[in-house]
Amino acid sequence: MRTHSLVPSVLLIGALSLTAACSSGVPDVRSSAAESASAATAGSVHVVDPSKIKGLRIVSDSSEQQSCAFATSYPEVPGAEAMTAVMKKDVERRLATFRSAGCASGAEGPEFNISLHFLVASGDVLGVRLTTQDTSAAGSGLSSATYWYDGKAGAYRTALGLIADASRDAFLTEVESRLKGRDGVDGTALDSTFADQAERAAVLDDMEFTANGGLRLTFDRGDVGVPAAGVYVVVLPSATVTPWLSAFGARVQRQTGTPSSTLDLGATHTPEPAVPTHTASGDDDTDCAQVKCIALTFDDGPAVPETGTLLTHLAQYKARATFFTVGQNVAAHPDLVRAEARAGHEVGNHSWSHPDLTKLTSEQIAYQLNRTSAAIKAATGKEPTVFRPPYGAVDAHVKAATTLSPVLWDVDTEDWKYRDATKVARTVIGKAERNDVVLMHDIHPTSVAAVPEILRVLTAQGFHFVTVSHLRSTL
Ligand code: NI
Repeated sequence: MRTHSLVPSVLLIGALSLTAACSSGVPDVRSSAAESASAATAGSVHVVDPSKIKGLRIVSDSSEQQSCAFATSYPEVPGAEAMTAVMKKDVERRLATFRSAGCASGAEGPEFNISLHFLVASGDVLGVRLTTQDTSAAGSGLSSATYWYDGKAGAYRTALGLIADASRDAFLTEVESRLKGRDGVDGTALDSTFADQAERAAVLDDMEFTANGGLRLTFDRGDVGVPAAGVYVVVLPSATVTPWLSAFGARVQRQTGTPSSTLDLGATHTPEPAVPTHTASGDDDTDCAQVKCIALTFDDGPAVPETGTLLTHLAQYKARATFFTVGQNVAAHPDLVRAEARAGHEVGNHSWSHPDLTKLTSEQIAYQLNRTSAAIKAATGKEPTVFRPPYGAVDAHVKAATTLSPVLWDVDTEDWKYRDATKVARTVIGKAERNDVVLMHDIHPTSVAAVPEILRVLTAQGFHFVTVSHLRSTL
């Protein structure tokens, strides 16, 4: 039986998709290739519940503009700093390359997205897949890599680190033989790729165990065959691969099949910031037809520690707001989403991994939104009724794929670009008009730091802070 915190319908969707590829929400052949491989060989796979990882932070960065559309995230797990450093470097380097090339033009540009998926978080083993979608890159622009941390040795491991050095040649020969003869694979080119140490490491960068101990290797489009052939998946059965595993690989295999209930990477325990316990006193009876209302909205969270700090600021002014949460962050911090709802704020849907929904199929849009709504419901007991499309990108096709109501904004602080609390506060205060919806992001400490001044000045001007749905219902 799979363990999963989401509702059964979503569990089914999760089971049928390779979550890493699918969570990017972008069309590709990887999900179908890996799905069938997974369904045929893996049996059930234990799903990691990231909310159980003590001290987890999801490091997110994103824009909210189609002319420079990017959203990245990677996890920071106490104890695994060496692995975090590698992911951080990879993500920041790729994002910098994209931003320097892609954000110059004013028109609708390409899109860049890195989403995360936990493979194993158990015992002394941590495994994460980052999936990158870069529509400015050649081919499908989709690539993935797995990152591993060995808590026993206190060391970061690459995917190839799952294999013992002494068995490397036998392993490579077997993988090559399983690729050769497939449509689109040129044997001579493959030989030369596998013979070069750097090239080999670059193409053999995505491996994970199946629940029954096999090793699944996923090759990005164009890595080992013609791009038109798409993604290749090789699954080595347990009996074949087990003798070749490194000591670390054997532990990952074991923790994938039968996860223990805790993760211990040897980090010294640091107390996590307390989740605020503010409780709303009943429904909001503000009549926006009679008084000046404004709806502050905060996207892309929840984030630690920013969201907790923001909740405290809002409580000091008895202000209500709307949080457009990203599903992969909701799954990591359901306690914060619960705290938002308990304090009388509205929790809205901002998709699972922040793709431009207008570029997705109806099924992918539904997956992005339904999976997030299910995570919000699991956290708060209540399904959201509103969503904010990432980058404000919405069209008839997106609207037809969901029953949620889209919410855009009147005041854009561009706080993702200007990490300056004074500037953010000045923008909101300067532009705020009655019944406006204001866009901010609670993943940035500078935006959260701007809020007390915004609340102070606008309160003095007679504004009442209400949720988006409240504003709409009383106008
Ligand atoms: Ni956003």
